[in-house]
Amino acid sequence: MSEFKVRDNWMAFCLPDISEAEIESVSAAVRSGWWAKGPRTIEFEKQFAEYVGAKYCIGLNSCTAALHLALAAKGIGPGDEVITTPLTFAASANTILHVGATPVFADIDMETGLIDPVEIEKKITKKTKAIVPVHYSGLAADLGKISELCDAHNLFLSEDAAHAVETRYNGELIGHHPRGAVSYSFYATKNLACGEGGALITDDEELAKKARVLSCHGMSAGAWNRYGKEGSWRYDIEEPGYKYNMFDIQASLAQVQLARMDDMQRRRFECVKVYEDAFKDVPQLILQKTPEYCFHSRHLYILRLDTKRLTISRDQFIEELKARNVGVSVHFIALHTMSAYTSRFGYKPEDFPNAYNYSESEISLPLYSTLGVDNAKYVADAVLDIVRKYRR
Ligand SMILES: Cc1ncc(COP(=O)(O)O)c(C=O)c1O
Repeated sequence: MSEFKVRDNWMAFCLPDISEAEIESVSAAVRSGWWAKGPRTIEFEKQFAEYVGAKYCIGLNSCTAALHLALAAKGIGPGDEVITTPLTFAASANTILHVGATPVFADIDMETGLIDPVEIEKKITKKTKAIVPVHYSGLAADLGKISELCDAHNLFLSEDAAHAVETRYNGELIGHHPRGAVSYSFYATKNLACGEGGALITDDEELAKKARVLSCHGMSAGAWNRYGKEGSWRYDIEEPGYKYNMFDIQASLAQVQLARMDDMQRRRFECVKVYEDAFKDVPQLILQKTPEYCFHSRHLYILRLDTKRLTISRDQFIEELKARNVGVSVHFIALHTMSAYTSRFGYKPEDFPNAYNYSESEISLPLYSTLGVDNAKYVADAVLDIVRKYRR
């Protein structure tokens, strides 16, 4: 077996995919003089709604804003409980606290990292008002079973689809005729990126109207155009809202990325194949399982370590990858172990053992559309080199 040779330069964990089309589109938006929310945002909202197959899309400045607005528009607040996963980014649960409700964690399934519907059911009480499942890493949460629970207990479903552009459940895109609300992220690392950005998708007209008004200070609808000839300077503040709207420079990037989605995804999948082929028969490496109902958008490449079969810890494994010039990440540090949550709720790591174990054994490898097969092969070789050196 040939000796592994460390490359000279650092490989980023994630990079945006910038083509001439993004540069031209953003230049046109800047030159147009309409920098705030305007025609490009409105056009993107139509395009994204059409793409997922939903009635309404509200362009926002983040997925966090979308998650918050979904709960706020439904009137969820103090005294209410909302169930979500501890294996997620802070935004999924922080936004529950932002409306004054209580986040209640339900543990995950170890094969997928997804919230486990059996655990959700155990956590439902008279106070439960909503479920916020996360389509972790680009897998779809079990929407069939979760919807059944929502029906049985009259709960609102607010899907966290930050990772789920292109994810499918039973062949249809997440967001296709949603039963509640679906929140997307277009943050710089996402499959569809515009720097910072997000969208709220729903088929519920009332929810869409309310969220739209709340997304811009609570201003009466149409007030974004108040400086144009057709607009009116007069507006009302219907309720104290937020400043969450998307704006046209963001939309100019998001529009191009949406149009390039198939090509960008194809290149992601080529890298995934390199990883899957390299790792499939290595007992030290645990690959993420894709449930039958799901098409994985491959936002993240999740690898777990069987540390009983290694002489080094997960953290040391990460250091070994860094020493080989590979940038990696962890998705996620279990949220119930963060001080904002331990201090408020007194959680211990073992309260959600699966999320904790997953979080302690996971490494996310570089995966993006500009990574390229050769770089993916380098990463795979680096992982295998470390396994060879430190296996038990
Ligand atoms: C699962 C999950 N939900 C929500 C968010 C928040 O997204 P944004 O940065 O667009 O607010 C993220 C961010 O990465 C995420 O990973």
